Order: sequence, then structure tokens, then C-alpha cells
Amino acid sequence: MPAAALVTGGSKRIGKEIALALASMGYAIALHYNQSKEDAKKTATQIKAKGRSCEIFQCDLSNENETRLLVTNVKKRFSNLNLLINSASIFESSKLASPNTIHSLSRHFAVNFKAPYILSCEFYRLCKKGSIINLLDANITKNKTGYPEYLLSKKALADFTRVAAVEFAPYIRVNAIAPGLILPPEGKTNAYLNRLAKNIPLKTRGSTAQITSTVKFLAENQYLTGQIIFVDGGAHLLNAEKA
Ligand SMILES: NC(=O)c1ccc[n+]([C@@H]2O[C@H](COP(=O)([O-])OP(=O)(O)OC[C@H]3O[C@@H](n4cnc5c(N)ncnc54)[C@H](OP(=O)(O)O)[C@@H]3O)[C@@H](O)[C@H]2O)c1
Repeated sequence: MPAAALVTGGSKRIGKEIALALASMGYAIALHYNQSKEDAKKTATQIKAKGRSCEIFQCDLSNENETRLLVTNVKKRFSNLNLLINSASIFESSKLASPNTIHSLSRHFAVNFKAPYILSCEFYRLCKKGSIINLLDANITKNKTGYPEYLLSKKALADFTRVAAVEFAPYIRVNAIAPGLILPPEGKTNAYLNRLAKNIPLKTRGSTAQITSTVKFLAENQYLTGQIIFVDGGAHLLNAEKA
């Protein structure tokens, strides 16, 4: 029976590319989505066309009770689950100390930190071996941002990656990828990313293929844990003022 991977936020964009790349490596795929059911079905069809099995799982990761059941539900269908990719995320602009700050903080922490935390703990408890890869953000090295609650949630997930790597060893490896300028966020164009790219060391945007090759590397290298790989053209090396 082939090993299986659970990919959260796998219906489109980076999550979808990770799911397709893992399918090409031979994994069966448990494809999680929240609202994008049609996209999830299309991605599942593409995965099956590669000769891999794939099932879609709906779950609102801001709901703690639903989130707690996701790994159990996946395990029932894929008993050989041994890879968890925490890619689902929200990314909303905000301003510290504005009236909606606490609401924004709760939302970002629920989806971007608490859900990966719960899924990782459930994965450890139920799967007992394998590996976890968390999707962070290259901006975790910085403190200047128009997205403070998002940034705080990713900084917390970075620390969780290291804490869990120690806590879950030697059974589960826990690593992370911190992407830089890969895909424009909702409402922004490619031109926006190309403009930002002029200010980073390698002067260019990254690709989803550069993310998926890093996923493959982290999934395969059995001697890596607690690592955060910045796939960002060197952006994290610059201080906040220059970035
Ligand atoms: N794009 C980039 O260049 C970039 C840069 C830095 C970091 N990253 C990180 O890389 C990862 C993937 O990036 P992306 O741009 O592909 O992500 P994205 O498009 O912003 O979001 C991925 C998925 O998250 C899911 N999601 C949002 N709220 C959810 C909820 N309440 N419950 C369950 N799922 C929820 C959505 O699923 P549905 O559509 O099914 O609702 C969405 O498709 C993220 O963790 C992101 O922070 C990306």
C-alpha cells in the first residue's frame, strides 16, 4: 500500500502544486479544502490521472472541533498516512491597535497556528511515524509588515516547528518552508510581485516548482528535522527597512 500525504489547502495555488508533486513521487493524496470544492475535485482528477488514489476532505480549520477530527477521518481512508503538509492559511492586512485587531488575531491564529498545531498533534498520536512540513513565510525574520497578525501567526508556527521537532522525535520529523515571492495574493497582480522582487538579493520571483522541489527534499531526507528552509531569493537576509 503506498504511503499517503494529507495536504491542507490543497485545492489550488501552492497547496495544489504540492499535492500534484507528491502524487508524482508515488504518494496517495488526502486533499483538504474548505470552500473551494470544485477546484478540489479538479485537482483530485489530475492526481488520479497520475495513477494515484486521491480523496477530498472538507474542513473549516478555524473550527477546533472539525479540525480535531480531520486526521482521524483521513486515517480511516488512508491507513498508511505518513506525511502532513500544513499549507492552508489566511493572509489579511491589518493594523496593530485598530478596533478589529483582536478579531484578526484570533482568526489568523486559529487557521495559521492552532490548526497546524492540532493536526500535528493528532498526526503524532495516530500515525506514530512520518513527517510534517509547515508552510511559513520568509517575512518571519522581519518585524515591519502590513500584516501583523498574519506575521505573528507564522512566527509562532516557526517556533512550533522546532519545539515539535524535538518533542515528536525520533518518530516524526518536523520541518518547514518559508516561501518568499511566489504567487501574488488575492487582489494583487504579477506586476506587484515583480516590483517587490527588484528589492531582494536574487532580483526575481520564485516558482511553485521551487517550493515543490523543497517539499520533496524535506520529505525524502530522513536525517533532517527542525529545519526551516527559506525559498525566497535571499529576501530574509535583508532588514525590514531595505526589504
Ligand atoms: N503565495 C505566496 O507567494 C506565499 C508567500 C509566503 C508564504 N506563503 C505560504 O504558503 C502557503 C500556501 O500559500 P498560498 O498562497 O497558496 O495560500 P492561499 O491561496 O492564501 O490559501 C491556501 C488555502 O488555505 C485555505 N484556507 C483558508 N482559510 C481556511 C479555513 N478557515 N479552513 C480551511 N482552509 C482554509 C483555502 O482553502 P479553500 O480555498 O478550499 O477555502 C485556500 O485555498 C500558505 O501557508 C502561505 O502563508 C505563500
